[in-house]
Amino acid sequence: MSLTTRLSIVALAIAGSTAANAATISFSNKLQDANTLVVFQAAEQNAELGFLDKDTRKQLSRAIKSQDFAGEYGSTLELLAPIDSDYERILLVGLGDTNVLGASEMAKLGGNIHAHLETKKAADVALAFDGIKGLLPNSELAAQFAHGANLRDYTFEVYKKEPNTFNISYHFDVENDQQAKEQYQQLAYIQQGVFLARDLTSEVASEMTPVDFANAAKQLEQYGVEVTILEPGQIKALGMGALEGVGRGSEHGSRLVVAHYKGSNDTPIALVGKGITFDSGGYSIKKGPSIARMKSDMAGAAAVLGTVKAMAVAKAEVNVVAVMGMAANMVSQYSIAPGDVLRTAEGLSVEVVNTDAEGRLVLSDAMWYARKHFKPEIMVDVATLTGSKIGAVGNEYSAIFSDDDYLIKEFTAAGKNVNENVWRLPLGYKEQLASDIADLQNLGKSGPGATTAATFLQHFAGDTRWVHLDIAGNALSLEPKNEVPAGGTGYGVRLLSEWILSSK
Ligand code: BES
Ligand code: MN
Ligand code: ZN
Repeated sequence: MSLTTRLSIVALAIAGSTAANAATISFSNKLQDANTLVVFQAAEQNAELGFLDKDTRKQLSRAIKSQDFAGEYGSTLELLAPIDSDYERILLVGLGDTNVLGASEMAKLGGNIHAHLETKKAADVALAFDGIKGLLPNSELAAQFAHGANLRDYTFEVYKKEPNTFNISYHFDVENDQQAKEQYQQLAYIQQGVFLARDLTSEVASEMTPVDFANAAKQLEQYGVEVTILEPGQIKALGMGALEGVGRGSEHGSRLVVAHYKGSNDTPIALVGKGITFDSGGYSIKKGPSIARMKSDMAGAAAVLGTVKAMAVAKAEVNVVAVMGMAANMVSQYSIAPGDVLRTAEGLSVEVVNTDAEGRLVLSDAMWYARKHFKPEIMVDVATLTGSKIGAVGNEYSAIFSDDDYLIKEFTAAGKNVNENVWRLPLGYKEQLASDIADLQNLGKSGPGATTAATFLQHFAGDTRWVHLDIAGNALSLEPKNEVPAGGTGYGVRLLSEWILSSK
């Protein structure tokens, strides 16, 4: 397939998922007429039904009693509305303990109720948020619910003959509709970043090469992002032999993609992403079925690019640059061989004991570039780096590594707010990376793989405040869950955006 055809597929993917599929969201300070009415009930409290007509109230009270509906978080009870009602059916939704009902619980709920309404083919929905209590004002809870619903609504349909045209219109009744609109608008900017990351991650490897990814990054120029792309010759000339080496096995070669959104004069925050568009393992080839999921090995790069997009469309007053090390880790006569030694721009040579430990190689040079060109205040790298991380903390948490306790604290708090939680693992086992022939080897001799990989990266952080996020397993989901549909998850965009916006 020619390059121009590929480009149009990327463009389509971005348009298709962010515009055509979006749920319709509106806020007002009164309850709208609709086909389906959603009413909420906190745990161990009676639902406040004063706003409903008498017949509807009665019917609802009877249903609650007969079904022993206790308002447990996420539970639902559905009934037909009385014959004269403005609504056809009523969905009662449990809020659980409202003392712990915050942003992330509401976004999750929005995702799950959206999935429920979709299976019921409910296209026109009014939600009675006014009067609901929680940790946030009801207008904010409603905005988070809408955010969760729209995040769940995303589908990647580039290869489907029949696109999903079913669309739900949500009418939120809140106390302060202006506030709800403003809150939702901010979340909608973040969504655009999430959807970009999902599009890039879900796209198949043959259509999302380092060149395709670079072209997708170029599209952010329309939002005022400065995009720079280094080609293999330039990468080599700057001494980035590790990044160059990993890409050698593919006809496309490596790219260093830099996307800078300068919304303030602060010292920049650098986000460094692992961008392996396909990880075959190279000559240390992957065995088993997991290889079929390795189109998602560029999800770190997708997450940092998505975050830059979110900040740019939101016109946030932040200075953030994404530096992405792009390569396809393939087998060919030009590929690096196990045992080869590559020279990083930092000056350290690396013995490639295992060509499947390629992420740390592209990151080492991308981290060097980020430090050298931007002198960032803080550097955060994001990478689908190790299977060992999945063994340690699974697919839902990401693993966070840093010597900076304060940054760990900030990321932990940010993760909780957006339902992208992090769990700390230690750095260490430095001696396991010693090589007989070079300054470092790319494979820890023993010791925990996620930690030796992180410790390898630490060599390239210098004295910059630095955080490493291992997102292996977070990037591609087999099953939909809460606000995240199956496929590319866009994991990290909400975490990074929340962290950047709340720490500035
Ligand atoms: N991209 C993989 C890590 C990965 C595994 C991501 C599963 C998502 C799901 C990485 O490049 C890799 O191959 N890591 C090896 C490292 C080993 C050779 C030291 C691993 O974890 O097995
Ligand atoms: Mn690998
Ligand atoms: Zn990899």
